[in-house]
Amino acid sequence: MNAAPLPLPGTLFGRDGRFTVQLKFATNASVFANFPTGTAPPDRSEFDGLVLEVEDRAYQLSRCRLEVEEAQVDPRLVFLDDVYDFSALFREHRMVDLRRVFHNVALVIAQKDQVSPQFRDYTANTVYDLSVYKRFFADQEAMLRKEPASVREAARGALLRAQRTRFFDFMDRGLLGLRQVTASFDDEEHKRHGYYFRRHVWEYIQGAPFLARTNLKPRGYAGDSHMMEMIYEDAFKGNSVFSMLLHRHPLASAAARAVRNRRTMVPLVLRRVQREFQPLPPRGFRFLSVACGPAFEVCDLLAEEPEPEHFHCALLDQDTEALATARAGIQRVQRARRRKFSVAYVNESVRTMLKRADQVDRLGRFHFVYSMGLFDYLTPPVARAVAKRLLELVVPGGTLLIGNYHVDNPTRRYMEYWMDWTLYYRTEAELQALLEDAEAASAELFFEDTGCQMFLQVRKPG
Ligand SMILES: C[S@@+](CC[C@H](N)C(=O)[O-])C[C@H]1O[C@@H](n2cnc3c(N)ncnc32)[C@H](O)[C@@H]1O
Repeated sequence: MNAAPLPLPGTLFGRDGRFTVQLKFATNASVFANFPTGTAPPDRSEFDGLVLEVEDRAYQLSRCRLEVEEAQVDPRLVFLDDVYDFSALFREHRMVDLRRVFHNVALVIAQKDQVSPQFRDYTANTVYDLSVYKRFFADQEAMLRKEPASVREAARGALLRAQRTRFFDFMDRGLLGLRQVTASFDDEEHKRHGYYFRRHVWEYIQGAPFLARTNLKPRGYAGDSHMMEMIYEDAFKGNSVFSMLLHRHPLASAAARAVRNRRTMVPLVLRRVQREFQPLPPRGFRFLSVACGPAFEVCDLLAEEPEPEHFHCALLDQDTEALATARAGIQRVQRARRRKFSVAYVNESVRTMLKRADQVDRLGRFHFVYSMGLFDYLTPPVARAVAKRLLELVVPGGTLLIGNYHVDNPTRRYMEYWMDWTLYYRTEAELQALLEDAEAASAELFFEDTGCQMFLQVRKPG
């Protein structure tokens, strides 16, 4: 949770004079006004404006009204002519002019003139086909509306089983067409056409929980721990058969299978590294997952390992919700096994590692450090710096493992156009280059079974 932002000084002015106020953040579009030098004007008093002082700047806001609320100590100011973003103003000291946002509408609309005719046809055909599918499924479900819940559920299950292959084949053919029609585009063209495409299929995206989340990014970024859970879970979700199929289809893609593959692959590599250090005392084998997300592979490891007491595990993530999910999963395994594991949860961004020099003192060193689903979001200079820092955390003879999607990921356009999910893809040489200057006993590059995700495994000299 974010702490409450500090109050800001201001002056209200209007027919009845000027009033010095202390403004407190209330909601995104309103503030509370405290009158430190006298009693507040009566409920529903209107003012011509408010001058707000933020650092060394003064912003003039437009007409507003005071509203006294029983549950609040201070009256609320609501704005009558404009909508302001007080979250940005109080938290980031940034004034967002929401009226200006609408100036962009015309610009964005004009972008459609730069959409290729072939892509327009492709989009129109896709939308038509999807709407026909949706209609057919909706008709089937409408017939079931009056059935008892158990009959309805069984019939939905039957529909899903019977139509899954046909619908998935239809989607796969559509994605093949997408790759063909966009094959010659540069990055800018992909962005423009992706936006155009998503506006057309938005109705369908919204219904499918996975697609909706990758697009809406409720935590501010794609690939949050809840999206990862959906990928690992790989189940039908949604309010209709059509939405359930559309939710499930991306979870069957090569990129999603690659995520599930690393869940089994990481414990295998970990065990190989562990064997190199045996015997070790309890909690003697130390490993660190960087950008751990829900840490399902750690739960698997702790659930299956005959002697989990030999591990000490550190889980690092910038997102407290990801860490909470990881903790809940590990606690479930602890309860089931009636054992206590040694786990440290570190709420930190890898960017902090780049700023501070005391990371070994704070975190210690580890026999095995790995990072899955992080480097795909890091620019080359940041990725290089982070990789170097991670290697510093490895004990002599220990191993660092870094995952990254390959430039030839066949799901790339699906992710970019449907999911608004863009990654830093790398070639083999680009991934290896992250640690080319590092002192390593060995460096190995390998792929998981789908071939869309590669791993750089570096062993530190003993
Ligand atoms: C795609 S998920 C991968 C999660 C997990 N490693 C897995 O394979 O299931 C990415 C995770 O990276 C975390 N993350 C992104 N940027 C980060 C940063 N700069 N520092 C630490 N964690 C970060 C996110 O919070 C998210 O949990």
